[in-house]
Amino acid sequence: MREIMKTKLVWLFWGALFSAATAAAQTPAPLLQNGLARPGIWLNGDWHYVVDPYDEGVRRRYPLNLSPAASTGVVEYDFAASPTLHVPGDWNTQRPELLLYEGTVWYEKSFEYHPRPGWRSFLYAGAANYRSQVWVNGNPLCEHEGGFTPFNCDATSLLKDGANFVVISVNDTRHADDVPALRTDWWNYGGLTRDVGIVEVPDSFIQDYSLQLQRGTGNRIAGWVRLAGAPATNRVTLDIPQLRIHREIPAPDGKATFEMEAAGLERWSPDDPKLYDVTLVAGNDRITDQIGFRTLEVRGTQILLNGAPVFLRGISLHAEAPLRPGRAHGDDDARTSFEWARELGCNFVRLAHYPHDEHTTRMADRMGLLVWSEIPLWQGIAWTAPGVSDKARRQLEEMIVRDHNRSSIIFWSITNESAKSAERNAFLHELATAARSLDGTRLITAATNQSSRPEPHKMVIDDPLIADLDVVGLNEYIGWYDGVPADLDLTSWSNPYDKPVIVSEFGGDARQGLHGDPSQRWTEEYQEDIYKHQIAALRKVAFIRGIAPWILKDFRSPRRQLPSVQDGFNRKGLISNNGEKKKAYFVLQQFYREAARDRGAATRSDGR
Ligand code: GCU
Repeated sequence: MREIMKTKLVWLFWGALFSAATAAAQTPAPLLQNGLARPGIWLNGDWHYVVDPYDEGVRRRYPLNLSPAASTGVVEYDFAASPTLHVPGDWNTQRPELLLYEGTVWYEKSFEYHPRPGWRSFLYAGAANYRSQVWVNGNPLCEHEGGFTPFNCDATSLLKDGANFVVISVNDTRHADDVPALRTDWWNYGGLTRDVGIVEVPDSFIQDYSLQLQRGTGNRIAGWVRLAGAPATNRVTLDIPQLRIHREIPAPDGKATFEMEAAGLERWSPDDPKLYDVTLVAGNDRITDQIGFRTLEVRGTQILLNGAPVFLRGISLHAEAPLRPGRAHGDDDARTSFEWARELGCNFVRLAHYPHDEHTTRMADRMGLLVWSEIPLWQGIAWTAPGVSDKARRQLEEMIVRDHNRSSIIFWSITNESAKSAERNAFLHELATAARSLDGTRLITAATNQSSRPEPHKMVIDDPLIADLDVVGLNEYIGWYDGVPADLDLTSWSNPYDKPVIVSEFGGDARQGLHGDPSQRWTEEYQEDIYKHQIAALRKVAFIRGIAPWILKDFRSPRRQLPSVQDGFNRKGLISNNGEKKKAYFVLQQFYREAARDRGAATRSDGR
């Protein structure tokens, strides 16, 4: 009897300790700008994992990393004896039994760490899809919601000198009031899908900074630096050696603002993706970033890059690895996908339908690809459900804060194919306003499929949402979901708004290697015919200032199950999931070559 009572008391003690601890998890700290380049240690590599479909882990105290020898209770898990998953990486494509798994997976990493006296240590994650909770040495640290943006949490008080362990639970169960909601047309890759590490900053540190080229013909750089932590320093040093710029800038109340001429500045563009090393120093904190400088504006239905009209020769991409199954991450995946896009003749990529990783947007800076970046407000969203607007606003903010220094990014997109309604229009009006307050230098767009068709073959590009946009994204599938390719020859296009239009999606499915008559759906010839008719139609419409056909590569989707044709993949790619080009690829490539040559001729005549 005494033994039973003792065991019960132990359970009660641990249970009380753990439930109190779990309740204390915080929201993440403000995002550290350029986290990838800060000092610290990466925890990428193999993490032990426990699959937890019934969410036992909280009740069983998984985060305490107890091993059976350490407890008088029964412990029915042991991280050290459990298998491993590679981080970064989705769990779906690392274990066959996890391909369709949706639920909770517990990750654990033990590591040696030596905190720096006078410095703070943040646990950083590039993304964790979809909900995550973080414990350090068995103590709750923070939790985050949103599957595609980074977060960092101050772990200084929880990390020890020597042996440490981190436990992160990730749950990717879909919910109607999440962003995205229950239904998407992409695979719900769960897990620690991007870099995880400990990022270190001195007690007084640089939180965020912005440097932009002011609109207009001059070369004036304007910007700011925001300091945080102990208010030890109140000045910032800015260096851009290649422009012979060195400035000592006061930072009253922790914020330095500046404006300066940059004689001889080379503007960033797809033809010349010039990046400058920018070094900021504040007290013991020193950050170097690579930043491009360009101007961006709209004039009527024209998009002007560095003052000259630009036609966006684009392609859409999901964040799927080009040469292996699963979620893309890191420089190699980004470089390969963008090499394919460059080979196609692109100067523009639509990174659909959620923020891709920071390696990708930085690669676009380096390789000279203009970028459309978006949050996953995809189709059906619970616009009026409690908390949904906060979730959307937070994901928008995390996307913009992370990338507002990337010269390649020209569009922030706030929704994809959401149906018109008073609630949706009001929700998106607020979100567009928020986007402009977060970043007044980029163009706000969205991909709408809500155009009206007053009669067959008449496309009127009207959606109340457009009033809130600088540039209109139009998704249209004439020839696939909507009639046949020849209908495009008869279609007229009207744009009641004096705003540029980008056709942000068109296309159709083809199984690579399936050949037949162009009238036969699912053949490469049918897809090729769609592209021929789409291009012939769109190139004649002056207010269409770019296209981003759907999509560079076939991608996994649970909704695409036609045997021996789709087999779990959306087949609208110009390249198969095995890297094989389809016939339509060459039709688009030919058009882009002509467009680039014509632009070159036009540019020469413009004298630019
Ligand atoms: C929609 C949607 C895409 C989807 C595509 C399709 O336009 O935006 O996410 O994959 O159509 O049906 O293939």
